[in-house]
Amino acid sequence: SETRLRCSDHLSLSLKLIGGSTETPSSGFGPVFEEQPVDTIYPEESPENKIMMSCRTRANPPAQDASIAALSSSRVLGLLHITKTEIKSPSFVLDLDMFSTDEREAVYVKEGQGAVLLCDPPPHFPADLFFRWILNEFPEFISLDKRRFVSQTTGNLYISTVRASDSGNYSCFVSSPSIAKSVFSKFIPLVPIAEREKYPADIKVKSPDTYTLLGQNVTLECFALGNPIPQIRWRKLDGDLPVHRHNISMAGSLLHLYDIQYEDEGLYECEADNSKGKDRHKVHLYVEAPEWVEKISSSERDIGGDYIMSCLASGKPKPHVHFLKNGRMYAKNHELHFTDLTFDDSGMYQCIAENRHGTIYANAELRVFASAPSFEWNPVKPKLLGAKNGRVVIDCKPRAAPRPSISWSKGTELLHNSSRIFIWPDGSLELLNITKSDEGKYICFAENDRGRANSSGSLSVTDATKITLAPSNADVSVGKSARMECATSHDPTLDLTFIWSLDTHVIDFDRDREHYEHKMVNSVPHLLISNTQLRHAGRYSCTAQTPVDNVTASAELVVRGPPGPPGGVRVDEVTTNRVRVIWSHGTDNLSPISKYTIQYRDVREQQEWREASTSPVNVEGNAEMATVINLTPWTEYEFRVIATNTLGTGPPSDPSPKITTREASEFLLSSSEETITYQTRPWSTKPVLSCWGIFVSIAKNTLYGSK
Ligand SMILES: *[C@@H]1O[C@H](CO)[C@@H](O)[C@H](O)[C@H]1NC(C)=O
Ligand SMILES: *[C@@H]1O[C@H](CO)[C@@H](O)[C@H](O)[C@H]1NC(C)=O
Ligand SMILES: *[C@@H]1O[C@H](CO)[C@@H](O)[C@H](O)[C@H]1NC(C)=O
Ligand SMILES: *[C@@H]1O[C@H](CO)[C@@H](O)[C@H](O)[C@H]1NC(C)=O
Ligand SMILES: *[C@@H]1O[C@H](CO)[C@@H](O)[C@H](O)[C@H]1NC(C)=O
Ligand SMILES: *[C@@H]1O[C@H](CO)[C@@H](O)[C@H](O)[C@H]1NC(C)=O
Ligand SMILES: *[C@@H]1O[C@H](CO)[C@@H](O)[C@H](O)[C@H]1NC(C)=O
Repeated sequence: SETRLRCSDHLSLSLKLIGGSTETPSSGFGPVFEEQPVDTIYPEESPENKIMMSCRTRANPPAQDASIAALSSSRVLGLLHITKTEIKSPSFVLDLDMFSTDEREAVYVKEGQGAVLLCDPPPHFPADLFFRWILNEFPEFISLDKRRFVSQTTGNLYISTVRASDSGNYSCFVSSPSIAKSVFSKFIPLVPIAEREKYPADIKVKSPDTYTLLGQNVTLECFALGNPIPQIRWRKLDGDLPVHRHNISMAGSLLHLYDIQYEDEGLYECEADNSKGKDRHKVHLYVEAPEWVEKISSSERDIGGDYIMSCLASGKPKPHVHFLKNGRMYAKNHELHFTDLTFDDSGMYQCIAENRHGTIYANAELRVFASAPSFEWNPVKPKLLGAKNGRVVIDCKPRAAPRPSISWSKGTELLHNSSRIFIWPDGSLELLNITKSDEGKYICFAENDRGRANSSGSLSVTDATKITLAPSNADVSVGKSARMECATSHDPTLDLTFIWSLDTHVIDFDRDREHYEHKMVNSVPHLLISNTQLRHAGRYSCTAQTPVDNVTASAELVVRGPPGPPGGVRVDEVTTNRVRVIWSHGTDNLSPISKYTIQYRDVREQQEWREASTSPVNVEGNAEMATVINLTPWTEYEFRVIATNTLGTGPPSDPSPKITTREASEFLLSSSEETITYQTRPWSTKPVLSCWGIFVSIAKNTLYGSK
């Protein structure tokens, strides 16, 4: 409704909503706002002599009246009052006063020095003020640049370096977009005094340490006086400025941070710099306000049931959480436990988390629901099918609160639990080992303290699906083909689907048609596997499925093939011309390994792999080490091992770590107590130039070492 307003004072607006009766709570619910009036400001000089507020509600029966009352009051932070249901929702009285009428003193400044003109804005609420400065006469606004800055926090005008041309009368102009109102101050004369000196940068506009909410935008201000005009730069001392989420404007004076994240917390620095000197200012940004980890949402619950409402908030310091119900303090707790819900538990709940940096709200409506059983939304399936000797489960899920008791009848015969029949606590009826005599009409009866209802369906019994010819185990070598048969019988009135799977994967005949085919052979359905690979080994299952039942039979396919690569190849006992190679068996792919072959290559010469000579010459299939002989001294080698069985030779192992054979001394020295024998090595690569030398005889014992 529309109310004519005449006011010279602030207004507090209160919305009254008279809801439908609560006498029929089982079907109705109290009024709930779908759209609430928003905080509104009525400017004193507004040419519009009215305020529009909109309000939409949901209630059953419908709300009868919604009216707006205008109350004269002082500036109040109050509640929005709603009868029956109260929702706490901050509403403010908003206004912007006039500037003081005191004359402003003139400001005398030497040219080249900085000047600050104080705005001193009048009392105001809300905080969305926008500051500009008028020069000499309205609407001549000064433009802002590197030299001139208006703080949107204080409204003050800063001129970094005053020039003769700045002479004039200045007035601070304040407007509030939300109330469409503007006021301006008395003029402040600025009088530059001719004298040109240089002054170092001196930061005069400094943002204080700032607390913010996650996801908010923050603007930090920084402006310096000085001559020449100082340059302003921003940086984050403990990291980088957030990439793509910051902007710098007003010739560096404003740092805008968008969509604040936790990592944006930290120390920001602005640096002002001119040829006479530098100045710095640091601002701490804290992102510590509470944030919901878990919050409540509207819910409808059965009468008599249990319910938990939980709100969890994170933040530093840890936020306190409490609950309001219908606008009143309900619990100083983060969780509400309801047992045996009653209609009195219905209502608007609000949880509030707060710490010293902020407050967050979450709202939810709890509706407690009660009704006689009804099958309107979920009747028993009218046509039910069951396979002979199979099992059938008939669901009965009426909508009802409190929970109904369920009973079942077949025709007029009441059913009870027996060896073959179960009435489960969820209301469903299960029949086992069904026969033709189980066909008929099954009725589910549901009853609670509010009433009763029934719903029924007819059961038909079909022939069971059977596998008449099951697949049998098979054993093939790699590259050969294999086949598995699977024949079935089923009820002719039902559609049959065939599914083959290998272990747990259903075979896709389209994608894997290179290897698999499903085909009739002598009028028996078969799975054909061609060019069988090792990966085709496993348990094959054929499933015959009708809408009523399914049967599965399975068999194992064994695929034999050449052995896999040996593992863990390494080398030890390295001498000048022989090494010991050690490995472990790889898979034998179901045919025992008959022998191993060892290959080597000279790493530096980039040789091809060659077969190594071993001792013993033949390396048996059960061996896990062998000595490679006839190597060259002082050569870097690597080795690999290959296994062979009756079906072929497998892939080589990974190469061993590289080793270098020992350097051969030119002479083999063997000594007994007093004689030394020497001979040249047959593999010696260096020419023997002479056979003389100095021989030192060394005597040693275990106590004194050697000499
Ligand atoms: C500033 O205002 C005063 C008094 O209203 C006036 O005498 C003076 O001329 C003005 N100065 C300028 C630069 O307009
Ligand atoms: C932050 O600024 C962006 C871009 O100016 C704007 O779209 C967004 O609504 C702002 N976010 C908040 C929470 O004010
Ligand atoms: C920063 O400002 C530029 C233009 O000045 C604009 O294109 C860009 O979208 C802004 N970035 C953000 C994050 O608002
Ligand atoms: C149902 O049939 C299974 C085998 O088909 C049999 O083991 C079981 O005893 C039967 N149950 C009843 C209650 O007849
Ligand atoms: C029937 O038996 C099941 C299984 O023992 C049990 O859970 C169920 O409550 C019984 N139903 C009735 C109606 O007694
Ligand atoms: C089943 O419910 C209907 C009403 O929906 C009622 O007319 C009928 O008598 C009930 N059947 C039985 C067997 O109670
Ligand atoms: C096969 O029947 C069983 C019950 O016997 C059922 O649990 C399963 O989901 C059915 N499988 C398929 C693929 O329909």
